[in-house]
Amino acid sequence: MSEKSKIQKELAVQWKDIKPLRSMIDSLPQINADIVFGDAFTLSLSDILPQNTSMIKKCALALRSWRKGPFSIGELFIDSEWQSFIKYNLLRPHFNLKDKKVADIGCNNGYYLFKMLQEKPKKLVGFDPTPLFWCQFDFINRFAKTDILYELLGVEDLSDYGEKFDVIFCLGVLYHRSDPLGCLKSLFNGLEKDGELFLDTFMIDGDEDIVLCPKKSYSKISNVYFIPTVNALKNWCERVGFSKVEVLAKKPTDATEQRKTEWILGQSLKDFLDPNDNSKTIEGYPSPKRVYVKIKK
Ligand SMILES: C[S@@+](CC[C@H](N)C(=O)[O-])C[C@H]1O[C@@H](n2cnc3c(N)ncnc32)[C@H](O)[C@@H]1O
Repeated sequence: MSEKSKIQKELAVQWKDIKPLRSMIDSLPQINADIVFGDAFTLSLSDILPQNTSMIKKCALALRSWRKGPFSIGELFIDSEWQSFIKYNLLRPHFNLKDKKVADIGCNNGYYLFKMLQEKPKKLVGFDPTPLFWCQFDFINRFAKTDILYELLGVEDLSDYGEKFDVIFCLGVLYHRSDPLGCLKSLFNGLEKDGELFLDTFMIDGDEDIVLCPKKSYSKISNVYFIPTVNALKNWCERVGFSKVEVLAKKPTDATEQRKTEWILGQSLKDFLDPNDNSKTIEGYPSPKRVYVKIKK
């Protein structure tokens, strides 16, 4: 683990919101689990006592909101806001992780990393600076017992990380960055020579080299800064030194992929769109559409 991530974790466990979650996770029973790779990342638990089932559920509920998933742990099904297997299954035919050093930047609770175990990579590292998602990861990993490394770090820490990766995933992060070229440059620096980057971001339609800059929020998300056309995205990538950008898919986000469940607190996609015209966000911008790309260093 990097020294900075270690310090961030030491600080995070003192926070009043995080401290009780850490104690809950630490007091969970040690139970053997078999991993089953389905659309839900599934942990099949053996010989589990009823009181353990209720402890696990209580902890999972305390760890809300579960944005990414789903996960299945024994009898418990964590029906996350996002059906993350839709994105995973879209990308899956385009990567080969066997014996590769792989990083997922903005990995959230590690859902994709857990799924990637099936691809037999040499190493899996997740970067995400949000302490709640690190706690969710540790909760799942308490049963999964994998050697995935979770760094409480951001994309901006990749350049100085001291280790480079053969394949990097950076999904759903670029539009949150106020400096998208700086973000892409960090990803470039984090890759080995000939490395590959898989990225998805919000996009706008059109062939021009232009970018939408939302005024205060986009789809009720305040930290969305730049939404490019595909051509503008390609220009950013070329400017930071990437050699090739391949468009894998373009797809609107709909309620089959993102919806309100009991596992999140607050609103979801339906509340972010204009109720009279779902082609627009509540702010009047084009509704969320993503482009998925494979980028060569
Ligand atoms: C929209 S979610 C995307 C999650 C996941 N990658 C996916 O595509 O489903 C954005 C994620 O970026 C993380 N994040 C926030 N700041 C970040 C940063 N500076 N570097 C990397 N990730 C960051 C958030 O904690 C969150 O998990």
